[in-house]
Amino acid sequence: MTSTPGLRPITEADVPAVLALNHRFVDLLSPLDAERLLWLVGLADRADVVELDDQVVGFVLTMAPGSEYDSDNYRWHAQRFDDDFYYLDRIVIAEEMRRRGLAGFVYDAMEDVARRFGRMTLEVNVDPPNHGSLAFHQQRGYVEVGRLGEPGHVVGLMAKELSA
Ligand SMILES: CC(C)(COP(=O)(O)OP(=O)(O)OC[C@H]1O[C@@H](n2cnc3c(N)ncnc32)[C@H](O)[C@@H]1OP(=O)(O)O)[C@@H](O)C(=O)NCCC(=O)NCCS
Repeated sequence: MTSTPGLRPITEADVPAVLALNHRFVDLLSPLDAERLLWLVGLADRADVVELDDQVVGFVLTMAPGSEYDSDNYRWHAQRFDDDFYYLDRIVIAEEMRRRGLAGFVYDAMEDVARRFGRMTLEVNVDPPNHGSLAFHQQRGYVEVGRLGEPGHVVGLMAKELSA
């Protein structure tokens, strides 16, 4: 990478770019409209865009424990880990910007935040498999701790232990 990536909070002006990124990969994530995105941003611990050369090239949303977030996956982690988890709800890096270490840069930052909760948690589609995300999370040290869903739409619930 020749430029330095950065993270900054999502603003209302970023909503169209973030929705477009989510929409492009909605099969791997879950649907979002502007209202739900702004609701999620309000609940999130971090809701950031990823920038490279002043261009938005991705975004990330995380939730701390104790949020009102209605996702089954978040609730699963809350039941399993009580207050000892930090949840990465979604990340997207624009297709043309992949394999440059951008997600690694984002995870370095989010895992630093997650450290005080003991672990970072998330889910990845396993049926059908999200091969790119599975490979990314495997090399990053995430392990599957459970599964949720029905055949044809199953997620692997994943965690990475982090010490303070
Ligand atoms: C998964 C995702 C966030 C990875 O972003 P990225 O910026 O390309 O990841 P990085 O460049 O930091 O990858 C670091 C390492 O992870 C592994 N990796 C990442 N993507 C991979 C892929 N598609 N296939 C195989 N390995 C992969 C590689 O080991 C890579 O190192 P290398 O490029 O030196 O071989 C990106 O592919 C994405 O946005 N996908 C669509 C949305 C999505 O699936 N989000 C996750 C939902 S759980």
